[in-house]
Amino acid sequence: MKTTVSLLEVALKPAACHIIFLNSDKTLGSEAKGFDQKLNGSLSTLFKSGALTNKIGRLTIIPALGNQNTRLILVYVGKSSNNSVAAFKKLATSIAGKLKSSSIGSVDISLVGISACGISFESLSRHIIEAIGDERYRVAQQPAPADAPSKQKLLSIRFLVNTKAQVKQTKLGCQSGQAISNGKDLARNLGDLPGNICTPSYLAKQARALGRSHKLKVDVLSESDMKKLGMNSLLSVSRGSRQPAKLIVMHYSGAKSKTEQPYILVGKGLTFDAGGISIKPSAGMDEMKYDMCGAASVFGALQAVSEMGLEINVIGIVPSSENLPDGDANKPGDIVKSMSGQTIEILNTDAEGRLILCDALTYSKRFKPKTVIDIATLTGAVIVALGSHASGVMGNDQDLVNDIINAGETSQDRAWQLPLWDDYQKQLDSNFADIANIGGRAAGTITAGCFLSRFTEDLTWAHLDIAGTAWRSGGKQKGATGRAVPILTQYLIDRTN
Ligand code: BES
Ligand code: MN
Ligand code: ZN
Repeated sequence: MKTTVSLLEVALKPAACHIIFLNSDKTLGSEAKGFDQKLNGSLSTLFKSGALTNKIGRLTIIPALGNQNTRLILVYVGKSSNNSVAAFKKLATSIAGKLKSSSIGSVDISLVGISACGISFESLSRHIIEAIGDERYRVAQQPAPADAPSKQKLLSIRFLVNTKAQVKQTKLGCQSGQAISNGKDLARNLGDLPGNICTPSYLAKQARALGRSHKLKVDVLSESDMKKLGMNSLLSVSRGSRQPAKLIVMHYSGAKSKTEQPYILVGKGLTFDAGGISIKPSAGMDEMKYDMCGAASVFGALQAVSEMGLEINVIGIVPSSENLPDGDANKPGDIVKSMSGQTIEILNTDAEGRLILCDALTYSKRFKPKTVIDIATLTGAVIVALGSHASGVMGNDQDLVNDIINAGETSQDRAWQLPLWDDYQKQLDSNFADIANIGGRAAGTITAGCFLSRFTEDLTWAHLDIAGTAWRSGGKQKGATGRAVPILTQYLIDRTN
């Protein structure tokens, strides 16, 4: 898909479809007036009837512009004060849906009519590009159908704006929108793959491929490497499976100096979570192939950062394993010694994410990071608390948590903070070890965060629980969403300004 930005006045040759925004129900803007002339005044008649502006978000299609074969789509955005990025994102989604269903090949999107709405041109173009990308994504079928006909008709998008400064801003939005969209596609593809294909070794292979295509230095630690480092907590999980665990480390060096402190993303890469000996109920268990979506969003964010060429250093760390009930699997009551030296009493083998993350977090310290964010489909409890709209965020540094929340607002991949108060820590007390791996039914998402906090005391650290946001369950919509690629990428973009 080709994306260009041009000044309204110089864009002569019209595309197959033209989209304009109406921001008033009182007067037809100058742009719309131009089209009105071509339509011999029928647009103003429609406008006066109120049919174009009776609902914010109303999309009206005029099938042909006079004798030209150009479609016109009018979008009513309402008065400036009504607009928010969240509302605009919904609008962008319905525009993208319309473009897809009417199989349009090229489109001019004039941003002139919404210039007063208080949303930056960067944000406008970015959300449109991202919404179109979301519509284009097709769930990968295994094996891929031999003659998969491309349903993608849309080949080019041109944004039209008024000033050179707007051209610059809009181009930035196109660039980040495309990079985030590509990152989401990568994350969704990985998340949608079944557990028999997407194993820890497969993820390691994909990381190496990503390294080649996007200039990342990739190291993969084997089980014996991890054993030498004392990662017994992580290894105790993979003992229950025949697939060897991998610790994937991906370096992106975009900063002027190679030694500049990196930002670290740690993603849970559980390629299938059956629960282990504390086995999960069988209904819907297939969905636990998504338990590597934290890892997938680290892959996607690193790809996006590399495509944008951000001038920072970023390291992605992905501990990857399966969680299955083998004869050698963890048993409830087992005690393991983590890389940090702390001992863990495993009271529930299904709380495995924290067991692999804690060693990866300890490992991250060797890179002396500025900040560390871990991303994990960690608890079912976060779905109860926040549903599928917000990821849960917790951390030991309020500035970092605020930066993440802000990045979620900008990217519309939102997160909501849960309290990581000391009061919750005692739920993890164990009679037999330094810490238990579960904290009872109450506040399950927070006690999971508390568990991780025991391994990050000397880091500037935050944790994102994406169990509710990384996929849609059940039915026809079942599949990965690509979250948390946008929020992570935005967090990193914001570090460069
Ligand atoms: N991967 C799951 C979290 C999960 C559960 C995601 C349901 C999506 C839907 C995680 O490993 C897990 O099993 N967590 C347990 C923790 C409990 C045993 C303390 C959970 O949430 O039930
Ligand atoms: Mn589990
Ligand atoms: Zn899990």
